[in-house]
Amino acid sequence: MMTGGTSAEGKLIHTFQGHILEKLDEDIQTVNAIKSKLLNEATDPAAKSAPSPAPPSSSFKSPLSNENKGASLLEDGPLDSSKNEVASDSKNPLKDSNNNRQVMLEDSSSPNERNWDANDTISNNVDKSSFRNYIIACDRVKAFYKEQHHKQTFAYNIQARINFKTKVRARLTIWDALVKLNNLIDKSDPDTELSQIDHAIQTAEAIRRDRKPRWMQLVGLIHDLGKLLYFFDAKGQWDVVGDTFPIGCGFSKRIIFHEFFKDNPDSYHPIYKTKYGIYSPHCGLDNVMLSWGHDEYMYHIAKLHSTLPKEGLAMIRYHSCYPIHRENGYEHLMNEDDKKMIAAVKAFNPYDLYSKSKDVYKVEELEPYYLGLIDEFFPNKTVEF
Ligand SMILES: [Fe+2]
Ligand SMILES: [Fe+2]
Repeated sequence: MMTGGTSAEGKLIHTFQGHILEKLDEDIQTVNAIKSKLLNEATDPAAKSAPSPAPPSSSFKSPLSNENKGASLLEDGPLDSSKNEVASDSKNPLKDSNNNRQVMLEDSSSPNERNWDANDTISNNVDKSSFRNYIIACDRVKAFYKEQHHKQTFAYNIQARINFKTKVRARLTIWDALVKLNNLIDKSDPDTELSQIDHAIQTAEAIRRDRKPRWMQLVGLIHDLGKLLYFFDAKGQWDVVGDTFPIGCGFSKRIIFHEFFKDNPDSYHPIYKTKYGIYSPHCGLDNVMLSWGHDEYMYHIAKLHSTLPKEGLAMIRYHSCYPIHRENGYEHLMNEDDKKMIAAVKAFNPYDLYSKSKDVYKVEELEPYYLGLIDEFFPNKTVEF
């Protein structure tokens, strides 16, 4: 059943589902933000007492009433993915031909620019007491993951990629795509304080404020643009948002709510249930199929249509892949290059999680700057979505 879409004339439909999608995504991101924050503090006590740097301050909408209780709800079992998994030497059929993409750091640098991996000023800029109450959210998030873990199968993921490659859903400029996503979500939820474009610009501006490269600022702007998928081909929320993970091999216990994979037929498949599944050891994440959603969709579009460096593409592709970039899972599939790419994702992640602010930028004032940025990295004005 299709739950979101636009008519041929571009009229907005299914706005209620858009509202649900946004609420759910916000809940998921809140859970991820809190868990990241707690983990950071556990490993770096200095983060706890660090002063909050300057504007705009990051805070979420509702207070977190009981953080410790909430933290225990997030426990998703032991972090040992090696148990009960059997190695396989199966060859990987998914080959990425774009391994040699050039890094374009030189093209996008300016005298004041800092590297993508320079320290961010946003990680400690979070008032945990202002997080919304995610204990309530947790029920919704749990129900979401029950469905997602049930339905993200190898068969579904192959079909999603066939659908992606065999049709063009829309031809839009990147900016128009942002506006389109923004309108869809805005109209679906009059109570939402932050729209999609607000989040896109807050993320990009936080990166810009830290004087990170222009390509990284653009990544901040477009990283969630793949949510347009929801209005094209999606079956529901479960194939648009949520944490992502490799498909075609054993589901790691480092994936949130791992226990829900008991409903996934791949958990009983003779190959897919094994540690390596269809992959070979250290085959590289370029050769691994990740669960379909807005990250994977936008990654493929950006890879096809932009000149973003591979670090930028990695930030888009893996930004929801918490089992890898936060839980350090699936190292048995990764190669040396992946480690650099995941370092880039870790550098991006705080801007995504912690840039949300009630201080909303004036989009029309920033539009010329971001139009220039889009033109710089998307050589063709119109992009096939
Ligand atoms: Fe996202
Ligand atoms: Fe985001």
